[in-house]
Amino acid sequence: MGEQFAGKVVLVTGGACGIGRAIVERLASRGASVVIADILQKEGERVAAVARKAGAEARFVRADMREAADIRALVRETVAAYGRLDCAVNNAGVEHGLQALAEVGEEDWDRIQDINLRGVWLCMKHELPQMVRQGQGSIVNLASTAGLVGMPLLGPYAASKHGVVGLTRTAAVEYGRMGVRVNAVCPSFIRTEMFERSLTGRPDLAEKLVKNSPMRRLGEPGEVAEGVLWLCSDAASFVNGHQLTVDGGMTAQ
Ligand SMILES: NC(=O)c1ccc[n+]([C@@H]2O[C@H](COP(=O)([O-])OP(=O)(O)OC[C@H]3O[C@@H](n4cnc5c(N)ncnc54)[C@H](O)[C@@H]3O)[C@@H](O)[C@H]2O)c1
Repeated sequence: MGEQFAGKVVLVTGGACGIGRAIVERLASRGASVVIADILQKEGERVAAVARKAGAEARFVRADMREAADIRALVRETVAAYGRLDCAVNNAGVEHGLQALAEVGEEDWDRIQDINLRGVWLCMKHELPQMVRQGQGSIVNLASTAGLVGMPLLGPYAASKHGVVGLTRTAAVEYGRMGVRVNAVCPSFIRTEMFERSLTGRPDLAEKLVKNSPMRRLGEPGEVAEGVLWLCSDAASFVNGHQLTVDGGMTAQ
């Protein structure tokens, strides 16, 4: 396991916090060269420094998933630095306040689709041609259980994550014959900065979610990261267009 990703170049968007940070930590400890992209410069630099201290090759690149030019430059910079791109984890995403569909404002709608859906499409737009040139590659997109079933009060988020699942399946079908696999991971409620923010004003919510979960607990970022790393790795060499739920059985009910 130690050197499972030795010689592999992996890009992780939203790698400064939460699930992305857990993915970076695991990739680094298993031999990958990791490029961390985020809008949070200080936090991202810190994650890269910790990975380097542990002996990995890691660098931070500031890139905003709302900016096509940033994403194009991010992929270019990665390839210029390391000569290739073996895996890409399109993880950056944002949430919104709990609101019934009819109450959602246009600004919130646009912001969520811009980052969660258009951002993932733009990442793949630039990652795929590089992987096709190499004749191999693996992309993992962070969707959500909200990309598989309806989520009350999370309309824009659920729409964006259903979109990510649609993009993932389509890319898998289009690019599989070129040696590129594209999969999605669908976590339920995971203890991260995002989850903490979404509890604001609803202290009762965490307890309710835990009660409704078959395993009676929230997920941890590392548990999602393990699923992501498996899909990235050669161990999943015939897995393509899959949505891996990491939800403690939530969507099995
Ligand atoms: N935490 C959960 O319960 C949960 C559940 C299902 C799916 N997810 C998904 O997992 C992914 C990671 O979520 P998390 O809980 O770790 O969130 P988080 O808020 O803890 O971390 C998200 C990271 O993305 C970065 N980011 C946000 N907007 C960005 C932008 N425009 N450009 C670049 N980077 C940006 C943030 O700075 C942050 O570092 C997201 O796509 C999220 O939708 C999370």
